[in-house]
Amino acid sequence: MKYGYFDDAAREYVITRPDTPYPWINYLGEEDFFSLMSNTSGGYSFYKDARMLRLTRYRYNNVPTDAGGKYYYINENGDLWTPGWMPVKADLEKYECRHGLGYTVITGKRNGLLCEQTALVPLGYTAEVTRVKFRNETDKKKEFTFFSFVEFCLWNALDDMTNFQRNFSIGEVEVIGTTIYHKTEYRERRNHYAVFSVNANIDGFDTDRETFIGLYNGFDDPDVPKAGKSRNSIASGWAPIGSHSIKVKLEPGEEKSFIFVLGYCENPEDQKWECPGVINKAPAQKLLAAFRTDEQFEAAMQAMHAYFEEQLSNYQAKTPDEKMNRMVNTWNQYQCTVTYHMSRSASYFESGIGRGMGFRDSTQDLLGFVHIIPELARERILDIAATQMEDGSAYHQYQPLTKKGNNDIGSGFNDDPLWLIFGVAAYIKETGDESILDEMVAYDCDASKAKPLSDHLIRSFHHVTDNLGPHGLPLIGRADWNDCLNLNCFSKTPGESFQTTANFESGVAESVFIAGMFVAVGEDYQQLCKMRGLDDEAAFADVECKKMYDTVMKDGWDGKWFLRAYDAFGNKIGSHENRDGQIFIEPQGFCVMAGIGIKEGRAKEALDSVRDLLDTPYGVSLLWPTYKEYHVELGEITSYPPSYKENGGIFCHNNPWITIAETMIGRGDRALSTYQHICPAYTEDISERHRTEPYVYPQMIASVDAPRQGEAKNSWLTGTASWTLYSVTQYILGIRPQYNGLMIDPCISDKWDGFTITRKFRGDTFHITVTNPDHVMKGVKSITVDGKAIEGNVLPVYGDGKEHNVQAVMG
Ligand code: GLC
Ligand code: GLC
Repeated sequence: MKYGYFDDAAREYVITRPDTPYPWINYLGEEDFFSLMSNTSGGYSFYKDARMLRLTRYRYNNVPTDAGGKYYYINENGDLWTPGWMPVKADLEKYECRHGLGYTVITGKRNGLLCEQTALVPLGYTAEVTRVKFRNETDKKKEFTFFSFVEFCLWNALDDMTNFQRNFSIGEVEVIGTTIYHKTEYRERRNHYAVFSVNANIDGFDTDRETFIGLYNGFDDPDVPKAGKSRNSIASGWAPIGSHSIKVKLEPGEEKSFIFVLGYCENPEDQKWECPGVINKAPAQKLLAAFRTDEQFEAAMQAMHAYFEEQLSNYQAKTPDEKMNRMVNTWNQYQCTVTYHMSRSASYFESGIGRGMGFRDSTQDLLGFVHIIPELARERILDIAATQMEDGSAYHQYQPLTKKGNNDIGSGFNDDPLWLIFGVAAYIKETGDESILDEMVAYDCDASKAKPLSDHLIRSFHHVTDNLGPHGLPLIGRADWNDCLNLNCFSKTPGESFQTTANFESGVAESVFIAGMFVAVGEDYQQLCKMRGLDDEAAFADVECKKMYDTVMKDGWDGKWFLRAYDAFGNKIGSHENRDGQIFIEPQGFCVMAGIGIKEGRAKEALDSVRDLLDTPYGVSLLWPTYKEYHVELGEITSYPPSYKENGGIFCHNNPWITIAETMIGRGDRALSTYQHICPAYTEDISERHRTEPYVYPQMIASVDAPRQGEAKNSWLTGTASWTLYSVTQYILGIRPQYNGLMIDPCISDKWDGFTITRKFRGDTFHITVTNPDHVMKGVKSITVDGKAIEGNVLPVYGDGKEHNVQAVMG
């Protein structure tokens, strides 16, 4: 069952009924100010960091779900309603939510009164701006009052939801004209405040939640909107809010609009005050002056459209598959820009206070946005590398505001360092910018320890070779990519964190996944070394990679697939000898991606086993059979009920590894089907089962042993976004950046006649037409550029900034 449809021309998903199976959200903000907004106008805003500078409050896991947001209550002759349906839930004659790129339009109609609320975070401003437009669609005059509403958060979101003995006494506001200033804690240490204002005369305001809503009411039943009159309350402690009321009269057919600005303002320390005790409001005035008129608002919307058209123009495809087109051309790329900004911090599943930017997460996210925003990818790499330790190991995460690494969610994940090599290689292949290798980058955020980025890569690589186990495979440390495979943890105490508990350093548990990854990044590492004249190091890497290849073939092979790991006692994990957890997806994906076993025929065998044992209609499960009991020696993975999360759920993130692996052995049909199974545009029709947004990937879909098979969770902030985009654009459609040019190497369904791609690459624009006259799955027999044949399948870098027409013929 569907709850909306894709409007491909407008690049919007249009939701046509408000009671979606889960709140379906969008992200507003492309720079420093962000809002999460659901299809019923729920959500919240923050500046830079969802934990440390939260502007508005949000209660996760609330009852009802998604209560709290930016609301416009309308009272027409005692009839109260909200255009987004929530929270009042009055029946609507019309409802629609259009989630677009960087904006959301929610439209509701009742009693012949149409209200359209359009929200965006304009480029260049630290504010969410909302235009609320009314139209009288009846033939009678209308008179009504409407009330804006936001609930301020007392800045530090964690403190805000825990430290009530202090919080209930600190809230402070100030109201001047139509502007409400939220200035809690400004007096002492903060140099920032929030404003909430409107571009029209108001009939009243409120800033005290209890006055506005009533102590025993919910958002659905607020006293002031119900009574139809503001009380001009000034908050003192408790819970400050912002609300304006405006009386509107509309002739039949008449339209009126109002522009609301919710903004973040900051003053330099020495300019905090206008005069003693009076806040310097200059930044607020400047901000508000930018959104006084509809023309200004329209211009901001146009700028947003132009911004995304420009970004997406770097890669546009036309294939015979409409769903693939809409994902590749719009939604998958868009999700990647969101994971760039958020990493795993703030979504409807990540509270914004639990996790910052992940070392491994953000380096993988790079894959999805490096072609869209290469300058920001560069900055991100340098930020991440600066948190690395001198021994090559890594903090698992850092907080975006401070950019300092921390161990809050553990440390010692031995795959982490390798992802840095992986990310840097992807960046240089896209941009050709080798100079990044020479950038001086701190260790442990200490500038006095700075070394060139190339030195960080060396220490990353050696962190693996310095930490090999009894079979010569890499030691796993706390865990590898699979955070829940905790082989050195042995936790028996309820509530203990699997990510931080360390009570059993075996020094022997090994990971075949890291081995595959080591070989996979090894070739890039050698190239990067050569770029910097480090030929001895490249030769060393070559030897180590070959050794590791052989080790995996010898001690990492189970007969029909690759083993997963060896535990703290040297026992096999992911072997047919085990009762549960006989086969895991990760090493099959990464070892084949590394090329291991392709020429020996083992890659195909491993992928056949994946097909036979892990495939489901909703995607490829992480492992089989699922663990039915807790194994203290395996850790968190066995703590999940069967077929959820890492215990054999469909962990979408690693499905594209199988897609890529399949393309490496030329099976385009299998590659395509693994791509399609988890792709949200294909699950749109079963939204009642799938539940999360049909326009973005979730992290996990419940698999075969779960009572709720096919149900997705944890949408938006997942490595799935970048990996799927990478797999479909670079391996299925096969347009793949290399150090020396752009490779054309598709692996598609043999039913396809071909496809076209426009790809910008290092300043040139390639219009690529791929034809498939012989109906093969893989192989390119000829390529011409601007009418001239070229040798091989790598388009050279012309660097002339021109458009080039490319004809590639498969066969
Ligand atoms: C989560 C983490 C990611 C990890 C994965 C598997 O998605 O963000 O870092 O690799 O889980 O455990
Ligand atoms: C949990 C999740 C895993 C995530 C980890 C890190 O254990 O199962 O997916 O990566 O937490 O926070």
